[in-house]
Amino acid sequence: QVTKLWGGRFQKDTAGLVDDFHSSISFDQRLYRYDIRGSQAHARMLARQGIIAPEEAEQIVSGLEEILADIEAGRVQFSVEAEDIHMNIEQLLTRRIGPAGKKLHTARSRNDQVALDVRLYLKDEIDQVTGLLEQLQKTLLDLAEEHLDTVMPGYTHLQRAQPVTLAHHFMAYVQMFARDVERLRDCRRRTDVLPLGAGALAGTTFPVDPAYVAEQLGFAAVAENSLDAVSDRDFMVEFVAAAALIMVHLSRFCEEIILWSSAEFAFVELDDAFSTGSSMMPQKKNPDVAELSRGKAGRVFGHLMGLLTMLKGLPLAYNKDMQEDKEALFDTVDTVKKCLTVFTPMVATMKIRRENMARAARGGFTNATDLADYLVGRGVPFREAHAMVGRLVYYCLEQGKSLEELTLDEFRQFAPAVGDDVYRAIDIRQCVAKRRVLGGPAPEAVREAIARARERLQNQ
Ligand code: ARG
Repeated sequence: QVTKLWGGRFQKDTAGLVDDFHSSISFDQRLYRYDIRGSQAHARMLARQGIIAPEEAEQIVSGLEEILADIEAGRVQFSVEAEDIHMNIEQLLTRRIGPAGKKLHTARSRNDQVALDVRLYLKDEIDQVTGLLEQLQKTLLDLAEEHLDTVMPGYTHLQRAQPVTLAHHFMAYVQMFARDVERLRDCRRRTDVLPLGAGALAGTTFPVDPAYVAEQLGFAAVAENSLDAVSDRDFMVEFVAAAALIMVHLSRFCEEIILWSSAEFAFVELDDAFSTGSSMMPQKKNPDVAELSRGKAGRVFGHLMGLLTMLKGLPLAYNKDMQEDKEALFDTVDTVKKCLTVFTPMVATMKIRRENMARAARGGFTNATDLADYLVGRGVPFREAHAMVGRLVYYCLEQGKSLEELTLDEFRQFAPAVGDDVYRAIDIRQCVAKRRVLGGPAPEAVREAIARARERLQNQ
């Protein structure tokens, strides 16, 4: 009367309450395709090694193929009593093909099975997130190309500092997202390891051939220690950590877009299709998409902390605590993908208010350093030049003028070394154009940066 797959040792069924509590089918059903592909590869290996008969393997493989089609057509009702996706599918298989189905789990445990499924799943998802990041980089590169000459203030402490260009600003994010892709790639290498063959914890007595399973499923390597193979969730932590950084980058970008779309900045205007209104205030146009992405960073950080905390006290090997890894991982994948998917077209469609950017760059003494550098060129020690320009700025603030509006006489009252070539030296465009150093904002330097980034994207 005990109905569980593992019921032999039990006198009673689990309480319904416990079924509800420990069942993971409500969320791990998303692994069905990977579970089926893994089981098919396992069955083929069992037959090849003479552990089950070839006809049995054939029945298993085709039975699983039918189950896959049924699940995809929405014809399968999963059961909470069968606990998780692994036992649900095994049960469906046995119902469908009879005795051969009962041989599938030979030389395997759910412990190595679940590790396998999640690794297969994550490899696919890493590829998708990587694709979204590449798409975003391409969009930013196109925008950067358009805005090589769009001068804007660069900030430190959110105070206007020195002039840069919007292209240069976008390219800073391209660097961040390129590092994110590298991190994903690196994490993918460690995800790409087959755990099957580890069994429950101590391998198996059957003459299995993990290398053949790895070859069928496209794994680059086979786990080297059975205890580690079923206990290791490092690859998930690494992925969620990489995702957390992606969210940091997105969130910083979102914060800037939110600021820039305020009337106080008015550097950009989001497209109507990527903004929302207010139920009460008729005039409002809100950057909700950017705000929500900024907010969602928090849940990904939470998942990272959740995973680390779940793992930190676990003795080897598998412990049921580890079932908690999946919701954290799945929600991280969903969140990052959703944010990237909506962010790219939001940036691509926002209107850039070049004039306001240029005005802000001209208005905030962002050329003060250039004036000091100019004086250095005329033999004034930098520290003295700095003090002279500081006094000039103070004078300008009192007069309500910008540096370029001063007369030569006014300049010379504070800095006698000034000549009439000063106006060219502190022209905002010149200030940008002179910063040709590698990684600098000069249009030619940024054009080279764009070319390097495009080449890197192509070679990936
Ligand atoms: N549903 C389980 C999980 O997600 C599968 C592995 C269960 N293994 C076990 N011995 N209870 O981790």
